[in-house]
Amino acid sequence: MKLQASDFVARKGLQPIAMLTAYTCPVARALERAGIPVILVGDTVGMVEMGFDSTRHVTLEHMEYHIGAVRRGAPDTHIVGDLPYRTDRDADTALASARRLIAAGADSVKLEGDKYEVIRHLVAHDIPVCGHTGLLPQTAKGFAKVGRSDAEAERIRQEAKGIEEAGAFMMVMEHIPYDLARAITAERGISTIGIGAGPDCDGQVLVINDALGLGDYWPPFSKQYARASDTILDVARAFSGEVASREFPNNIIKLTGTGS
Ligand code: KIV
Repeated sequence: MKLQASDFVARKGLQPIAMLTAYTCPVARALERAGIPVILVGDTVGMVEMGFDSTRHVTLEHMEYHIGAVRRGAPDTHIVGDLPYRTDRDADTALASARRLIAAGADSVKLEGDKYEVIRHLVAHDIPVCGHTGLLPQTAKGFAKVGRSDAEAERIRQEAKGIEEAGAFMMVMEHIPYDLARAITAERGISTIGIGAGPDCDGQVLVINDALGLGDYWPPFSKQYARASDTILDVARAFSGEVASREFPNNIIKLTGTGS
């Protein structure tokens, strides 16, 4: 059964929420089969799938394409779609952008930072919003942990408060000190989903390519549950070798008896 935004509010403090990103149909299908309650079609797609050096190159068209694919793979899972860089620059632009992501298959949208007016406007137009505080990749100068100084920690704390008060149903907290994440999680009434934010959040999110070990760099706070890049290398070498030796496709023709 697909969870709605209000279900995630109700789950605050109960069972931890496992969120994974997905960008393609077969991956989304596997996540739904595994019972992942919420899939994020993140603008990380630009970096981990499209080869850009920043999420800032991702467009609404890219997101519509990937959200559509994920929706076809996971018809019964809550999908959060990321609003790309500057498509949420003001309330009206954000509403038009969010409506496109919803039409493509998203159930809610995510946006970065302290855009309280935008969040209020979307929520007033029945679009559930997931906030995002801490490290904000669309505008950050680097990927270092943020919130280490007292002043910066207080700013993030106030931002989390503002995001909740503006009406967001959930909030991603990225790469902040664990004690800050713990404090915000205790203070806020909506679920916090951490990435590089320690164990005391209401849930955890991982970029699927990091979890799969797909690619050649994974953040230190991520975990590789598999080594998909090695598998692809092995498959490509095996295939190449069998084509060279003419083993393929003879080996499958013999197995399946096809070819007549
Ligand atoms: O775009 C994304 O995948 C994200 C995660 C890193 C949380 O925002």
